[in-house]
Amino acid sequence: MTDPVIANVHAREILDSRGRPTVEADLTLSDGTRVSASVPSGASKGRHEAVELRDGDAARYGGLGVRRAVASIADRIAPALRGRPPVQAEIDALLLELDGTPDKSALGANAILAVSLATARAAAAVAGVPLWRHLAGAGAPVLPLPMVNMISGGLHAGRQLDFQDFLIIPAGAPTYGEALHQCVAVYGALGELLARRGLTTLKADEGGYGPPLASHAAALDVLVEAIDRAGLTPGQDVVLALDVAASHLHDAETGTYRLASEGRVCDAAELTGLLEELVDRYPIVSIEDPLAEDDWDGWAHLTARLGGRIQVIGDDLFATNLARVERGLKAGAANAVLVKMNQIGTISETLAVVERAREAGLRTVISARSGETEDPALADLAVGAAGGQIKIGSVAQSERLAKYNQLLRIEEQLGGDGAFAGRSVLGHDNPESL
Ligand code: PGA
Ligand code: ZN
Repeated sequence: MTDPVIANVHAREILDSRGRPTVEADLTLSDGTRVSASVPSGASKGRHEAVELRDGDAARYGGLGVRRAVASIADRIAPALRGRPPVQAEIDALLLELDGTPDKSALGANAILAVSLATARAAAAVAGVPLWRHLAGAGAPVLPLPMVNMISGGLHAGRQLDFQDFLIIPAGAPTYGEALHQCVAVYGALGELLARRGLTTLKADEGGYGPPLASHAAALDVLVEAIDRAGLTPGQDVVLALDVAASHLHDAETGTYRLASEGRVCDAAELTGLLEELVDRYPIVSIEDPLAEDDWDGWAHLTARLGGRIQVIGDDLFATNLARVERGLKAGAANAVLVKMNQIGTISETLAVVERAREAGLRTVISARSGETEDPALADLAVGAAGGQIKIGSVAQSERLAKYNQLLRIEEQLGGDGAFAGRSVLGHDNPESL
């Protein structure tokens, strides 16, 4: 029997969790196997991300339509892929060649990723294994420790607070299933607390609450209280994390950060000092994008000062781009990489970033976007690539739960809790040190 080859790729425009158009691709193999994949979309995007192709036709979806990206697949990609085996490295290399630009702006990173991810699914189907197993290759699969959004600010919640995400990490949980349970308990307790204070419990883009709190400290206070109310011990069972998303608070002209909720404008050193004070006061173990995406010196300084105590994650800083990760390694900027498939656009390049980070001793957090689809692939990627941590948003809304639930299925398939990352991925084996 000959190995199946790609018979066709068909794409369509679907809607993401914000009701904005995104790309879905169906890939059919010569043996009749049919798989689909769809791609997410960010709101607080970095400047160094691969380019999403949007139609710009204001008469449809305010210019956000993706008919041009769908056409990239129909007119350029599908003809080139027909007759080829679904081998990831080969298909991804071909996609890069067809596009021919450094930022994937010709075909669109949204078109390219839909096909790249569908190729991964097709290869898994040919091998007769689940996607996570296929992505693991010769490596050992690991269930990730989740980092879960509870309160949103920034561009995801009408800038009620400056910092974009206030998250919890159930670092003391023995299994993924128990970690998820604890996050749901804290989320519920937080909702009750906010309601009791007469604050809105309406949800932001990623399902977190977006209350009008007076300050960042007030958000951290209510989060600590919610953990306590859920019967868990802050700092032991459950620890805190922030995504400052500082690029979006940064004024490039003056080089300063505008913190409306603190009523102040500060420079990188002052923002670093402010974050250090929060780390001193609260059980914060991780801060993402504490500074703007091109402030390499500021990042190096912050990492030297705080990197021994907390995880310093580069999201907009690295944009899942290997060259930027290399630059960060040289500069000593960050000690962890946020990994988003659509920041770079192919599965091969995404896996290469995870691999390089691991080799260099940087931690990885496999992350969703604020605009997501029902595709659960992120969960498979986190397990297969043994990323250690996953960031999906809150424990609400089906586009998020599609991934959390997929991890429950994978936990069952893996059998037992042996493969759960747990607190050790944070560099804390001892609960006393959290
Ligand atoms: P985005 O934000 O998906 O809106 O870009 C997510 C993040 O900053 O982590
Ligand atoms: Zn971020």
